[in-house]
Amino acid sequence: MTDSKAQDHVLIFDTTLRDGEQSPGATMTHEEKLEIAAMLDEMGVDIIEAGFPIASEGDFNAVSEIAKRAEHSVICGLARANAADIDRCWEAVKHAKQPRIHTFIGTSPLHRDIPNLTKDEMAGRIHETVTQARNLCDNVQWSPMDATRTEEDYLCRVIEIAIKAGATTINIPDTVGYTAPRESADLIRMLIEKVPGADEITFATHCHNDLGMATANSLAAVEAGARQIECTINGLGERAGNTALEEVVMALKVRNDIMPYRTGIDTQKIMNISRRVATVSGFPVQYNKAIVGKNAFAHESGIHQDGMLKNAETFEIMRPEDVGLAETNLVLGKHSGRAALKAKLSELGYNLADNQLKDVFVRFKALADRKKEVYEDDLLALMRDSSSDAEHDRIQVKFLRVICGTEAPQSADLTLSIDGVDHQTTAQGDGPVDATFNAVKTLFPHEVNLQLYQVHAVTEGTDAQATVSVRMEEDGKIATGQSADTDTVVASAKAYVNALNRLLVRREKTAPAAIA
Ligand code: KIV
Ligand code: ZN
Repeated sequence: MTDSKAQDHVLIFDTTLRDGEQSPGATMTHEEKLEIAAMLDEMGVDIIEAGFPIASEGDFNAVSEIAKRAEHSVICGLARANAADIDRCWEAVKHAKQPRIHTFIGTSPLHRDIPNLTKDEMAGRIHETVTQARNLCDNVQWSPMDATRTEEDYLCRVIEIAIKAGATTINIPDTVGYTAPRESADLIRMLIEKVPGADEITFATHCHNDLGMATANSLAAVEAGARQIECTINGLGERAGNTALEEVVMALKVRNDIMPYRTGIDTQKIMNISRRVATVSGFPVQYNKAIVGKNAFAHESGIHQDGMLKNAETFEIMRPEDVGLAETNLVLGKHSGRAALKAKLSELGYNLADNQLKDVFVRFKALADRKKEVYEDDLLALMRDSSSDAEHDRIQVKFLRVICGTEAPQSADLTLSIDGVDHQTTAQGDGPVDATFNAVKTLFPHEVNLQLYQVHAVTEGTDAQATVSVRMEEDGKIATGQSADTDTVVASAKAYVNALNRLLVRREKTAPAAIA
């Protein structure tokens, strides 16, 4: 096994920035991708799949920049089975201290039909493309997409070809999330036994969660001999998502008694990266999500609380601090100073430069004036609005005043800065939010399908901030936006504009064909 440091070491391959970001609506900005990559690098992820370089200029630039900056992780880019994709991928990853090319083709009967290749023609293509990748880079990963629905004899044949052509990692994707744990293990075991050269390479497992079995399938594959798990933070990914990094890593740590494998992940960094990915992707973490959900360590029922007070192990199989959850939800208020804010933000994973802190502090003070107590969740919501790229957004909300009451129609007086120039209008609508969205449409004309408009209170009380999520669609491209404010209409306007800015970025992307 070329890549594994030891037989019990399981490599963690994170694809949040590729398979995760491919999820409709999860588009991240360039700066956000760099930030997430830096956090992955620092937390001990072995391989970061940083993107799909041929998909767009933006993807290419992000992969190149991540490659230049990575300190420890291998930086990998994705390429379909053709010369142009592989060349472009190499151009992006070649800057890394440790580059990897990941090339793939769909090998199941259904996927073979898409490029309309016979089995022999596809085998030839695999030989050519893996050889090309290996001539460029010493570290090559090959994936037979939809492996779990590919005929076993054909799967063995093409994997042998890829190994002979120089692949150093063979990834076995369960592209449609169809496999069950026993099958996942049997498949890896069969490949290790039957494919000549299998003991020279690392087998990886790449599971999708359509039946909720991605974590179980990945762990079963490891028990059968796979030594690389492909996963994403929060299980982000298309449809039901990918294997969640935090779940497999914590399962291997907590149940090391029956799964004696190690990863290099600093688990105390899990919570912060989970929050950041939720923020930048616009995909909130479900409250009862394993490991990183808001309720994962909350013990509210009387029996539980009583047991916890006597001995935390009564109901806790891992300690909150193991995943980086601070024990206290320290409250800040309007008398809290810059140092207290800085310390709290750093605990939450935001290490701000002085100029950034200055800006956030002004916003914090404004919030503390309106709200007596500022909780962690308030700060996280505040940081969503202070995302590093907001100042580069083409459209920004400058001023908003609405007139609402029992008499319709309601109206909104709105000023937007568009490409640096202020534009003002007054629009009417069926309620203040509708009037505000109409005003945005007047100032920046666009046709989108508003798929979701959701409001949540961040904390309790009538002075609580509202977090608003908006999802919009245009020609099959989806973008989400979020914002928080003690004024629900202001939060709505900002969330809408945030989604619109993301849609403008997404317009520039060409959809990569045939990838799950
Ligand atoms: O799910 C899948 O098959 C993929 C491949 C590109 C590895 O994401
Ligand atoms: Zn996938």
